[in-house]
Amino acid sequence: MNAINLESSGKLLVKGPQIAKGSVKISGSKNAVLPIMAATLLTKEKVILRNVPELADVQTMTEILEYSGKTINRNDEILIIEENKELVGEIPYEPVRKMRASFNVYGPLTLRTKETKVALPGGCSLGVRPVNYHLEGLKKMGIESTTEHGYVMGKIIDSKNEINISLPFPSVGATEHLISSAVLLEGKTIKISNCAMEPEITDLIDFLSKMGAQIEGKNTSIITIHGVKELHGLEYSVSPDRIEAGTYIIMGAIIGDNLKIERVCIDDLRILLNMLEEIGIEFEISEKENYVKISKVDFKNLKNLNIDTAPYPGFPTDLQPQISVLASLIPGKSTISENIFSSRFNHIDELNRMGAKIRLEDNTAIIDGVDYLSGAPIQASDLRAAAALLIAALSAEGESIISNIDHIFRGYEKLKEKLDKIGIKIEYN
Ligand code: EPZ
Repeated sequence: MNAINLESSGKLLVKGPQIAKGSVKISGSKNAVLPIMAATLLTKEKVILRNVPELADVQTMTEILEYSGKTINRNDEILIIEENKELVGEIPYEPVRKMRASFNVYGPLTLRTKETKVALPGGCSLGVRPVNYHLEGLKKMGIESTTEHGYVMGKIIDSKNEINISLPFPSVGATEHLISSAVLLEGKTIKISNCAMEPEITDLIDFLSKMGAQIEGKNTSIITIHGVKELHGLEYSVSPDRIEAGTYIIMGAIIGDNLKIERVCIDDLRILLNMLEEIGIEFEISEKENYVKISKVDFKNLKNLNIDTAPYPGFPTDLQPQISVLASLIPGKSTISENIFSSRFNHIDELNRMGAKIRLEDNTAIIDGVDYLSGAPIQASDLRAAAALLIAALSAEGESIISNIDHIFRGYEKLKEKLDKIGIKIEYN
């Protein structure tokens, strides 16, 4: 796969409106495979991961694990991760700067190398994104951190045998990081409350349990871990990407003609499907064959939507920009409140450039539906905003040029191939 350079981001030329028909297969989950890859640091043994998407972020995590001393080979959707030499406890700024999720190697690496120096992850266009919950929880587990010159230095200190951690907010990253760092604390019991319950965390817990970890409370907000001496290697298949699936489902509701989205986990998509049903969108699902089939509807027949993003099982913030496009085409007033990230509305100005009528009041977008969007030069600020602008451009009258589009390759595998297969024409340059 050609290395994607996010620095010199490309442009996408899109002529609208287009119709999406046929079927698209969903890839493995980006947000599940990244913490799972970080957790492979917990064992010396060989790990084989299946259903691993080919994405820029997976490439970045691969680089980070190789920095730490792992040997990684890829064969199509399979990743083989081995350890043939002593691990190194230092991860430089460059890869961490590119991807926040890379910080989740810090705890597991400190447990293995006893001393680490890992770059602090920066913020991004979604707002300030500190890691205080991570560091406070790790401290209770005996990993002491000092930060200087943009790096966190970690070392092992004594800790109690009974450890209680209560997260101030059900942070996905902190929950994953603390669970992964607790499993090897032999003879200790660690209880983490107010945990996030996203399906990606269930995937991580299944992975760790199959390595020999002792974890109770899966799918609940209270996780209890009984530390063990060591973990063994395994073969594991990553779950399907519910955000990629949700993106294609929303695309189908706006420009679909019996668009079939395959290899999905229906349960993970319930909140989205229930919301679409509530506003009057019909679709066919098969829990047996794991697909959703959906077509564009006459927006005039739809009810307005009022959404609050929230931790799972609430409405995912990673589908907020995409659902804003649908809301912008439904006559009347809809509202979307963003409660996870302080500034995840960078797509709003761009949609307004295309003729949408959206205004912001604090963390709420107030959307007055319009009959159609018009093609325009627009720019993407982050991964999900890029996906939303692509959907908007595909539904719009006329030509759009989306710049900074390379963000989209961080989370959507084989995008051009998949779009081609459902009859969608885009030009990348
Ligand atoms: C994960 O990010 C996902 N990333 C994000 O998806 C997703 O938007 C987010 O969870 C929420 O669902 C991956 O899984 C790789 P958080 P994460 O910790 O873990 C604050 C995408 O598009 N916070 O749950 O970084 C934080 O600032 C990406 O695929 C602290 O204040 O999210 C935010 O406001 C974007 N201190 C809130 O909590 C901390 O120590 C939720 O963040 C940690 C978090």
